[in-house]
Amino acid sequence: MCEQTQKKKVLSCIQPSGIPTLGNYLGALKNWVNMQEEYDCTFAVADLHAITVRQEPAKLRQQIYSMYALFLALGLDPEKSTLFIQSQVPAHSQLAWILSCYTQFGELSRMTQFKDKSARHADNINAGLFAYPALMAADILLYQPDFVPVGHDQKQHLEITRDIATRFNNLYGDVFTVPEPLIGKGGARVMSLADPTKKMSKSDENPNGYISLLDTKEDIIRKFKRAVTDSDAKICVAEGKHGINNLIDIYSVVMGISADETVKKFEGCGYGEFKLSVGEAVADCLSPVRERYNEYISDKKKLEDLSKMGAEKAYYASRKTMSKVMKKVGFVL
Ligand code: TYM
Repeated sequence: MCEQTQKKKVLSCIQPSGIPTLGNYLGALKNWVNMQEEYDCTFAVADLHAITVRQEPAKLRQQIYSMYALFLALGLDPEKSTLFIQSQVPAHSQLAWILSCYTQFGELSRMTQFKDKSARHADNINAGLFAYPALMAADILLYQPDFVPVGHDQKQHLEITRDIATRFNNLYGDVFTVPEPLIGKGGARVMSLADPTKKMSKSDENPNGYISLLDTKEDIIRKFKRAVTDSDAKICVAEGKHGINNLIDIYSVVMGISADETVKKFEGCGYGEFKLSVGEAVADCLSPVRERYNEYISDKKKLEDLSKMGAEKAYYASRKTMSKVMKKVGFVL
């Protein structure tokens, strides 16, 4: 057997709903880059998911390419991994429909992301927003991955994916690999800098709450300097110290050290000095990404070619699962 087929499979996706945040990076993208050597990886820009909330077409198109350019800038390698745009592989929509017929109304109603998003977009609670987890299950199960690296907020969607896969397998035999979520110890829940009880999100109305991967060094440092903390002035991990806990987590993951080492390093320092160090560490880590991004985004032809190549690889990888599912369900091939 050749080495390639022995590798375990990994799959993950990200929505192109704006420039990713430091949360997306530390919770997901950074881990994806590190997994490329050891695993057979498939990563996608989940644009079908993005239209569950209203998008402006020209802006969406630009954001899709922008996310693909960021994949490359972060070090995802189209030769080693399959990097593609979800809507360019029709099997995702096809399998999503089939799986939605094996997903219960009650299960979907319990999804916290559905509840949050329908509260935020009360004028557009569409069927796609509700059925979103069936599409996400399709994204995953099509490629039979062993692991799905995600941040903490996607845990519930991974659980429903496993339930759908198990239900389908119980009916039709072993069609799907039931995947394991991979949720990092550090960085899986990066919190807002403006309100550290809330997750850092690119849809935050307050831009001081999140670091965008393309923010300038000055912006990054300014946002960290303003980060909300507490009046205790002691740098340690403790219950209720949401702001400081978040900064310790961010610094540790960016520097590749443990939270204990971070606490030791800043023993006796004031919050001001600590915030500045976290800001500088993040800015130093992201500035080469921003530079490479600027090169990739200006070469549209390259982005088109690479994403088409990725879609072709994804199509071939998904064909076997798709035809197996069609046969099992009783469709005519
Ligand atoms: P999305 O686009 O919201 O986020 C992409 C990834 O970033 C992680 N993440 C975070 N991690 C830590 N701290 C944060 N503050 C933070 N914010 C976001 C998310 O957990 C995710 O891993 N439905 C998915 C996209 C998707 C997908 C899939 C993921 C579609 N199909 C198949 C895995 C497998 C989403 O909206 O992620």
